[in-house]
Amino acid sequence: METTLIILKPDAVQRGLCGRVISRFEDKGLQVVGMKLMRISDQLAATHYEAHKSKPFYPGLVRFMTSSPVVVMAVRGIGAITIARNLMGATFGSKAAPGTIRGDFGVSNSFNLIHGSDSPEAAERELKLFFAPGEVLDWTRAGDAWVYDATGGTPE
Ligand code: RTP
Ligand code: MG
Repeated sequence: METTLIILKPDAVQRGLCGRVISRFEDKGLQVVGMKLMRISDQLAATHYEAHKSKPFYPGLVRFMTSSPVVVMAVRGIGAITIARNLMGATFGSKAAPGTIRGDFGVSNSFNLIHGSDSPEAAERELKLFFAPGEVLDWTRAGDAWVYDATGGTPE
């Protein structure tokens, strides 16, 4: 099982798209194990996006991410990191394929609705930045027996 950090960015919250975006993850069969509405501080945005510090879009990115509340989620499943990135679509709304979150809900290249960790290392680092110990819950989903085939012993 992998757990990934998803952020519904300020544009998703302001446009009232959270429910529909969260549904994409639930519909797919991924499990929400952490979720909260919060305002990202300048410091947290800088730490989260430190890999982009030297990029020309960095100041605008930090301004955007701190401009209004976001919803942060911890999302779990087998292969959850890649599955979430595929659900999100390409970085720019103008290029993202129809059927993806960015492809269906936006046209902007900077207001792109959603963040998802891009590797297991990034997920581990980012989940710790946004969730305190105890805020990500291990809970058993009643429907799991029909989401994964565990009849062979290992869920797949
Ligand atoms: P994210 O980290 O937010 O999940 O997005 P991503 O992996 O698809 O894209 P990444 O390359 O990590 O870029 C982080 C965020 O910076 C903004 N961006 N603007 N104007 C530009 O050239 C540009 N490139 C990136 C986007 O908001 C992107 O999500
Ligand atoms: Mg990224």
